[in-house]
Amino acid sequence: MQTLDPITAAAPTGAMASPAVARNTDPILAVLKAHLPADGRVLEIASGSGEHAVAFARALPRTTWTPSDPSPEARASIAAWAAEAALPNLNPVLDLDAARPDAWPPVDVQAIVCINMIHISPWPATEGLMAGAARVLPDPGGLLVLYGPFREADVPLAPSNEAFDASLKSRDPAWGLREVEAVVALARTHGLHLTRRADMPANNLMLLFRRVG
Ligand SMILES: C[S@@+](CC[C@H](N)C(=O)[O-])C[C@H]1O[C@@H](n2cnc3c(N)ncnc32)[C@H](O)[C@@H]1O
Repeated sequence: MQTLDPITAAAPTGAMASPAVARNTDPILAVLKAHLPADGRVLEIASGSGEHAVAFARALPRTTWTPSDPSPEARASIAAWAAEAALPNLNPVLDLDAARPDAWPPVDVQAIVCINMIHISPWPATEGLMAGAARVLPDPGGLLVLYGPFREADVPLAPSNEAFDASLKSRDPAWGLREVEAVVALARTHGLHLTRRADMPANNLMLLFRRVG
């Protein structure tokens, strides 16, 4: 995971720390607070280090937060942060690969949050994410939240995102910034409709989709 460092002085043993998480947690949380259901149950896909999961569960004590990641290293980090935080509303981490929605563990949630995954995974992960979200989320009203850098038609890509896209593709040609229009079109085929597009710091976007059958 490109943004994660193995250990910092502040991290518990076995945990990873992400400088990006330190920067983007508060802006993401502001949008989540405005749109997540009160007393809601949330599945986080691609939880990475686990720092978001702890921060969001702590800041949203009436929300039940379930982190997940297919990477054993990430799951160990998430478990380490969670053990230190000991939050009653933070569930154990799940082993979940977005690209294999038929193999997702059973979950009962009203919202799915996926931060910084769809550009750092092959497109089938986004396809699986949409198929799985459509199956898991309640209809109507279920919410899918995406965060990350995107391409948009008729919007020049920021130089920093152009360089990031090139570096992603050099690591894996199947990775790279996704086009908002392609993601929105894919979501629509699964009954998930874009209801909000929010500009975020550092040329990122948050895209909110609602389940509409
Ligand atoms: C850049 S990290 C982002 C982690 C965290 N969400 C954050 O913002 O710090 C990308 C994460 O996506 C996860 N990932 C990659 N492919 C995935 C897939 N097919 N399904 C679920 N997660 C995946 C990786 O294991 C990694 O934890």
